[in-house]
Amino acid sequence: MADQKRHSLSFKSLLIAAFLLWIPDVGFSAAAVGSPGRGQGQWQLLLNNTGVVAMHMALTHQNTVLMFDQTGSGPTGYRLRHRNNGRRCTRSKNDFQDSSCYAHSVEYDIFQNKISPLTHYTDPWGSSGSFLSNGTLLQTGGFGHGSRSIRYFRPCRDSKCDWKESRRRLSNERWYASNQRLPGHDRVIVLGGTSVFTYEFVPKRSDGEGSFDLPFLHQTYDPDSTGGNNLYPFLHLSSDGNLFIFANRDSILFNHRRNRVVKTFPQIPGAGSRNYPSSGSSVILPLDHRDGFQKVEVMVCGGAASGAYKAAGEGRYLKGLSSCGRMVITGNKHKWNMENMPGPRLLNDMLILPTGDILIINGAQSGCGGSNNARNASLQPYLYKPNSRLGRRFSVLKSTKIARMYHSSAIVLPDGRILVAGSNPNNRYASRNVAYPTELRLQAFVPQYMGREYHNYRPINVTIHYGDHGEDGVKYGREFRVWFSLGTKPSNGVEFNVYAPPVTTHSISMNQRMLKLKCRSMVRAKDGRMDAVVEAPPSPNVAPPGYFMLTVVNGGIPSISQWVRFTDT
Ligand SMILES: *[C@@H]1O[C@H](CO)[C@@H](O)[C@H](O)[C@H]1NC(C)=O
Ligand SMILES: *[C@@H]1O[C@H](CO)[C@@H](O)[C@H](O)[C@H]1NC(C)=O
Ligand SMILES: *[C@@H]1O[C@H](CO)[C@@H](O)[C@H](O)[C@H]1NC(C)=O
Ligand SMILES: *[C@@H]1O[C@H](CO)[C@@H](O)[C@H](O)[C@H]1NC(C)=O
Repeated sequence: MADQKRHSLSFKSLLIAAFLLWIPDVGFSAAAVGSPGRGQGQWQLLLNNTGVVAMHMALTHQNTVLMFDQTGSGPTGYRLRHRNNGRRCTRSKNDFQDSSCYAHSVEYDIFQNKISPLTHYTDPWGSSGSFLSNGTLLQTGGFGHGSRSIRYFRPCRDSKCDWKESRRRLSNERWYASNQRLPGHDRVIVLGGTSVFTYEFVPKRSDGEGSFDLPFLHQTYDPDSTGGNNLYPFLHLSSDGNLFIFANRDSILFNHRRNRVVKTFPQIPGAGSRNYPSSGSSVILPLDHRDGFQKVEVMVCGGAASGAYKAAGEGRYLKGLSSCGRMVITGNKHKWNMENMPGPRLLNDMLILPTGDILIINGAQSGCGGSNNARNASLQPYLYKPNSRLGRRFSVLKSTKIARMYHSSAIVLPDGRILVAGSNPNNRYASRNVAYPTELRLQAFVPQYMGREYHNYRPINVTIHYGDHGEDGVKYGREFRVWFSLGTKPSNGVEFNVYAPPVTTHSISMNQRMLKLKCRSMVRAKDGRMDAVVEAPPSPNVAPPGYFMLTVVNGGIPSISQWVRFTDT
């Protein structure tokens, strides 16, 4: 391995390390460890004005974050006065009709803590997306003319990248549809949407292929609610290559290759609905090498009460759902195991933390999704430890003061913080005389695991080495090396977790998944660093090819994540 090519990210690591040290007064007291209810974690205010509402948010492998809103919302917080040498965009009233006078899409640079404007040519409101194997974002659908759009964003470091509109169009209009990466060929499935009960592939599998009817979407459509309580269906790729589809209260396992329902799962217990506008959230729990990534378990949390949409229209905001359900979708026995969050919640985001725990953040306690339909902001994130004993899994974390309601979002950053942005239950940007003003402040939630008192346990200087297998990534089933430093003796449980960053909007984090990889060996080298041989996932079913964030976790304390790429070529 002497001529091992070093996939060096150490400059970035240094920058992130500097950023970590810079974090002001992250004063965790050791006594707080393990005592739920103490409000662990910290909040940072990063920017007062992101310019646009982060209705959609996605982290790129260039460590930038895309945030975008609808283009039809009129003036935003980012005026493009320089357009047309300033002639067109003055301060006149006409500006408000001219969408080119304001940015509706921005790129946030994590290290510089700065935003810059991007251009959307069609309206991406309520769109969906997936990252492809080369890190390019494929974004599908939206509103109006944008509802059949296919857009690409190729992340870069030179600020020269911007949205590109494909000449191809979707077969159907996809507003509030879901998008999931499929195992092979850089293909995605786009499923559902307002008044659309079909799915389709991008790119198509053959010339002239259109969309396919999916009766399940008719069956789960609730005529008593605008949107039917089955928009933005939850999609998860099972490790057998089939697709888990959850809509309203029902779910199926679907063979997308053969257009066939493989399994119909039991209905999730309890009244109420889980999908838009009821807007609960869902994750696939971390997949584990210890069972060969065979066991796949999904979790669904929160949502709205039955009749919440109609009631909200009459000014009554029904209490949201407190329940979560967990179900193993592989094997032969399927049962929803129910448990309660510390409080009712909808419009919530569910994120997989680098440790493999689940964070539930943003949202409201009553009402439902849609403009001005929710009340009682949920200001406290919940931490959920999936492997703890039942009844001891949830804890309540530190409150924010900023309501993050409809059209807010949250994502995990490579340094372990959670970026939180957006919220705009109003049709236009409004700061006064509304129940919940348009929110342009950008925050980070700093989980407790980032506290200084854990720095001794924290793996640092993590670098990834692809070895002889190429500079471009690791092939399925092959090994790669992870070097890192550790001040103390490694704990028994050093984990190597890889995370596919999601495309997030409307409480759904599309394509989010985590794998706990196998470590074949780990030794301390002569120079003191740790040298681990780690095994890439076995197949694209387990992890579709692309960029993943790798985190070394020592006794529950995560390193800064580094990007690793899995390829099938
Ligand atoms: C945001 O605005 C407040 C009030 O004007 C100011 O005190 C604060 O420093 C600003 N924060 C940032 C991150 O710009
Ligand atoms: C990434 O892949 C997509 C889909 O195959 C392609 O359209 C795009 O040009 C690729 N981008 C780069 C930078 O290679
Ligand atoms: C929402 O807030 C109102 C007014 O503060 C309160 O009366 C109501 O109980 C709250 N509802 C929930 C579900 O917390
Ligand atoms: C981490 O890397 C930096 C830069 O390469 C180096 O200066 C430092 O000594 C390393 N720290 C440890 C503990 O190895």
